This record gives sequence, structure tokens and C-alpha cells, in this order.
Amino acid sequence: MSAPAATGVRSATRARIAARTLRTDRWWQTPLLTVVGLLVFIGYATVRSFVRSSYYVEDYHYLTPFYSPCVSESCVEGARHFGTWVGELPMWMPLAFLSLPFLLGFRLTCYYYRKAYYRSFWLAPAACAVAEPHARYTGETRLPLILQNAHRYFFYAGFVISLINTYDMVVAFRSPSGFGFGLGNVILLVNVILLWGYTLSCHSCRHVTGGRLKHFSKHPVRYRIWTLVSKLNTRHMQFAWITLGTLMITDFYIMLVASGTISDLRFVG
Ligand code: FES
Repeated sequence: MSAPAATGVRSATRARIAARTLRTDRWWQTPLLTVVGLLVFIGYATVRSFVRSSYYVEDYHYLTPFYSPCVSESCVEGARHFGTWVGELPMWMPLAFLSLPFLLGFRLTCYYYRKAYYRSFWLAPAACAVAEPHARYTGETRLPLILQNAHRYFFYAGFVISLINTYDMVVAFRSPSGFGFGLGNVILLVNVILLWGYTLSCHSCRHVTGGRLKHFSKHPVRYRIWTLVSKLNTRHMQFAWITLGTLMITDFYIMLVASGTISDLRFVG
């Protein structure tokens, strides 16, 4: 049986360079930082999603995004902003069981994160002019990576989840005396704005708003929206990273207030 044809960096048409790379700069720095950043977020989010404590501030209706929507009897009553849909959940199931799989799918299949983790975790390739360790390249043409094409559907789910986060943010403008807001509201608001920045700058959103049109001149409204989304789209990578940070900060602040470690800094009410 003949050996499979060499492809990718081992193909016959590539220069025969024994060294993995001739680059002398710190090309490994970006992939390394990406690995560290993503692992920190994954670790934090996993722990917080399962602990089931300090996720809701009763007085000010602050609900961390990691527990939203909270629709089971396992959630504290006030945190059920959308009512009670199911009974008690087993401990191994996160209280945000409805949104987490879709959020995970949305971020995992995101065009930017794909680039980030293909380069940093799979080293495929780790950087320009650095040979990748894999002998074959099949791209996203077969399982499991062909599932990346489902991103457009995860975008719709991500859009709905951003609406849910927006609702959680709005209902938090309440205090025991009626309307009120504090530092927690500011943090929730900033987080929601940036989550919308991430969601609306999605490449699929760009396609939804302006794709499949033959004549922009016949669709001025869609053209205008597409132009705005395209501007946001140039910042998608920044939104991808910033929102990982704001999600953790929002959750951490609510955890501190909910656990009584600090009190919310109140401006009104
Ligand atoms: Fe990143 Fe869609 S969310 S490309």
C-alpha cells in the first residue's frame, strides 16, 4: 500500500527547511497568551456555573449572567425572572442549563475564537511561517469541524440570550424602596452593552443583515444596518476578549455582594 501523499507543510512544493521556523521573534507569545486567557475564563466560568451560591442579590435583583435564565425550582425565587419552568435540578446540572449549551456553541463556533484556538491549542499553525505539527490538513470539511458551519444558528440563540441578559439588567433597576441603582447596575449595563457589541459584530449577523442581496440600492435600510454591523465587525476580536472579562467581572461583583463580602455602592435607592 502506498504512503498517503504529503500535504500541508510537508507537501512537495514547500521549501525544504528542517527547522520548524526561521523566525527569531517571540511568535509564541500570542498563542501562549490566548491559551492562558481562554483557560482562565473556562476555569472560572465552569466553577461558578456549578457552585450554586452567591448568584443573586435579593434586595437589588442582581442576577449573574452565568445563572440566566434561572427557570427551575432550584433557583432562589427572586432569580426566576422568567418564571418557573421545571422542578428541582440535579446538582450536576447548571442552573442556566437552558442558555449555557447555546452560549458555548456560539463562542466555540465563533469565527474569531476558531482562529484563536486553532492557532493556540492546535498549533495549526501557531503563527505565520511556523510549521504546524499536523501532517494533513482537512479544514472544516469533515466531522467534527464541519459542525462549525452551524455558527449562524448559534448566532440566533446568542441574540435571544442577549435579550434575556438585557431584561435581567433592566429589572435590576429596583431596590426595596422602588426605583434605584448602584454600582452593580452600572456593571450589568456595561456588560450588556458589550455583549450586544459582541453579538451584533458577529460575522453571521453581517450576513443576516446584508447577505444574499443583489442590489444594495434596492434595500437602503438593510444596507444601512449592514454598514453599521460591518463597522462593529472590524472590532469583533476586541469584543470577544472584552466580554470574557466583563462577564467575569459582573459575576465576581455580584458574588461579592450576594455573599455579603461587600455592600453594593448605591447611588439612588
Ligand atoms: Fe464571532 Fe459570530 S460570534 S463570528
